[in-house]
Amino acid sequence: MATYFNEPSRTFSEYLLIPGYTSEDCIPANVSLKTPLVKFKKGEEPAITLNVPFASAIMQSVSNDTMAIALAKEGGISFIYGSQSVEDEAAMVSRVKNYKAGFVTSASNVMPDQTLADILELKERNGFSTVAVTEDGTANGKLVGIVSSRDYRVSRMDVSTKVCEFMTPLSKLVTAPGDTSLKEANDIIWDHKLNSLPIVDDDGKLMYFVFRKDYSEHKLNPNEILDEHKRYIVGAGINSRDYETRVPALVEAGADVLCIDSSEGYSCWQKKTLDFIRSRYGDTVKVGAGNVVDKDGFLFLAEAGADFVKVGIGGGSICITRETKGIGRGQASALIEVAAARDEYYEKTGIYIPVCSDGGLVHDYHMTLALAMGADFLMMGRYFARFDESPTAKLVVNGSYVKEYWGEGSNRARNWQRYDLGGQSKLSFEEGVDSYVTYAGPLHDNLEKSVYKIKSTMCNCGVTNLADLKRDAKLTLVSSVSIVEGGSHDVILKTSRTNN
Ligand code: IMP
Repeated sequence: MATYFNEPSRTFSEYLLIPGYTSEDCIPANVSLKTPLVKFKKGEEPAITLNVPFASAIMQSVSNDTMAIALAKEGGISFIYGSQSVEDEAAMVSRVKNYKAGFVTSASNVMPDQTLADILELKERNGFSTVAVTEDGTANGKLVGIVSSRDYRVSRMDVSTKVCEFMTPLSKLVTAPGDTSLKEANDIIWDHKLNSLPIVDDDGKLMYFVFRKDYSEHKLNPNEILDEHKRYIVGAGINSRDYETRVPALVEAGADVLCIDSSEGYSCWQKKTLDFIRSRYGDTVKVGAGNVVDKDGFLFLAEAGADFVKVGIGGGSICITRETKGIGRGQASALIEVAAARDEYYEKTGIYIPVCSDGGLVHDYHMTLALAMGADFLMMGRYFARFDESPTAKLVVNGSYVKEYWGEGSNRARNWQRYDLGGQSKLSFEEGVDSYVTYAGPLHDNLEKSVYKIKSTMCNCGVTNLADLKRDAKLTLVSSVSIVEGGSHDVILKTSRTNN
């Protein structure tokens, strides 16, 4: 006879936190959200610690290099999506690792024999008014000049005028060498009253621009996470098919941690992938695995050598796995069981394997609940897809701004290997949808608010760090009737409100 779980599959909205004693010191300013990303032995420190417990999902519509830089600045981590060529993924990782705050790779570039029409078209397309003129028209080609809006007058010039005839040539430009620090660059900008300063290498090739307008943005990001070379931390998704080529390329590009991206992780394919990494790199390459939803799955991946284990099947906002296959588990039930298995494993072995709650987090209070239920960090797709930094288009639909957001298992992403169980790819079927999410502005502003809400709730629970939250949180199931009581009720609302 099949095994039946006694408890129904429950999700976050079915739980509430019960307050604990709040002392004078228990204020949001004293709350730390530091959390381990990868496994560690009792008494030791994890190789990577996050300053906020957030990871952006391994998805085309969520995690590219722009998102990774923005999230690392805030103290979280992105996992660059693996459903792209090995070269493209490695290039994204290396752009994060080579990113220097305030040093911008030129986004608009032309060759000297292009025309004013090309400049106008570029400006229309990406909005930048500074265009680099390089010999080969690339961002890192040999610099021959710059075109800014001061160099041309559209009303007086023929649009077929060649760029080399009106650009500010290199001989009239102030440039700085590759080892210039941000402070030095800003001093040069001020001394020479420049709007932009090209940074060029010894061969005269353009490396970056430093812009005057960015100066005020270089405030310290107190939570940013950096590696020992002061570069931002970044993760990358891998799959259980092409790991023999993808893993070395990502390691070479500088990825700090990898994650096997699969809808279901309790499989021989994940073990084979982990075995390959351990035999080739020992413990020097950190790699998470998943997704699982129970103790058996957790123990399998723990024994197979995973550095963290990801929990969740079917809870993602764009996910239709439960509808198409009847597989999955309510995210709260899955997380509670896996977190308990992690604690038991730690008791027995002295090895702490962080657990990531992946998918289905809709409201900020869900985040606090997931952390209280034992998640070490949270992976989110929909949450991050709404921000300026996500890779997708911002559109107006029915008069409101939205961003596109699609599942890795949708026809749009065609990431069939995520769902691969060794079958025929021509028979692949969709497990995700293509959708819009409400546009929400910059990541920083939103994350700051979410973090503050989590910290405030932790203070209500009487704790100032995540380990204490896990240990001391008191949680109760709610009845369907009390859920109605939880929102505003029996009043006439003056404005409609959303709860994020
Ligand atoms: P969200 O934060 O609720 O939007 O869920 C994001 C998570 O959904 C990801 O981290 C993945 O684990 C999962 N996911 C991504 N794409 C798909 C899909 O197409 N089908 C099912 N699950 C998906």
